[in-house]
Amino acid sequence: MRHLMSPLDFTREELEQLMDLADDIKNHPDKYSEKCHGKKLATCFYEPSTRTRLSFEAAMLNLGGSVLGFSSADSSSAAKGESVSDTIRVISSYADICAMRHPKEGAPLVASSRSLIPVINAGDGGHQHPTQTLTDLFTIRSLRGEIKDLTIGLCGDLKFGRTVHSLINALVRYPGIKFVLISPEELRVPEYIREDVLEKNGYEYKEVDTLDDVMGELDILYMTRVQRERFFNEEDYIRLKDFFILTPEKMNLAKKDMMVLHPLPRVNEIAVDVDDDPRAMYFTQAKYGVFIRMALILTLLEIPC
Ligand code: NCD
Repeated sequence: MRHLMSPLDFTREELEQLMDLADDIKNHPDKYSEKCHGKKLATCFYEPSTRTRLSFEAAMLNLGGSVLGFSSADSSSAAKGESVSDTIRVISSYADICAMRHPKEGAPLVASSRSLIPVINAGDGGHQHPTQTLTDLFTIRSLRGEIKDLTIGLCGDLKFGRTVHSLINALVRYPGIKFVLISPEELRVPEYIREDVLEKNGYEYKEVDTLDDVMGELDILYMTRVQRERFFNEEDYIRLKDFFILTPEKMNLAKKDMMVLHPLPRVNEIAVDVDDDPRAMYFTQAKYGVFIRMALILTLLEIPC
């Protein structure tokens, strides 16, 4: 039995297979509409979510399966003090696969060690968000043809943003990727990402605190929200929240085929006027999240395709 805790749990070859499957699902959805007949997905979300939880549910429903779960800690027995280990042992007898989001880093990993069914980390605190990364990789591959020789700007809250941590982890396995890390000084990527992931793998990167200077170099701009819920005090959040705002004027500085991604939700960091720019791909990205999650469910449940 296999779980998904980090994007590194799949080899590059396995990632390619997963994306090939997602591609086929996207092109021939009818072929897959009964593949999970009789199977159940549990979504155990101890933290707010729109896209991740609903795209997982849509994925399972598209495969002919069913879904059950909870969408906040308050509505589960966590509010009574139950541990994730006990919860997953029980859920193991109610469902065939579980997607879990938790504010504590490592909670889904603890759950997976006690689980009798595959557990997918749907975001653990400021740590990792592997299925967002699968979505991001699939979007890049679908729109660019391959993941290779790209200058990728990651902008915003690189300290607390788990989607950024997982994405960097995954991208260092692809050739010719250059990173431009765009954030205020206080929201730079954590030390372990800089040293253990980027430097250890000999990756080219630079850290800057303005967007305008680097816009023209980028093939992809990955915007992120300042993660209010992970700040220790509200004043710091207020000071930093509007540090970067992507506007149509800034888009004028970018390459004609640059692509803007964002895991969403957006707060202020992308002006709504940018949405009509053909380079704004964040809503397409959210749509692609369903295809890759369908592929992931089929793979972890070992359903022949
Ligand atoms: C992200 C998350 O939860 O980390 N959202 C998502 O899953 N698409 C990004 C965020 O909340 O800013």
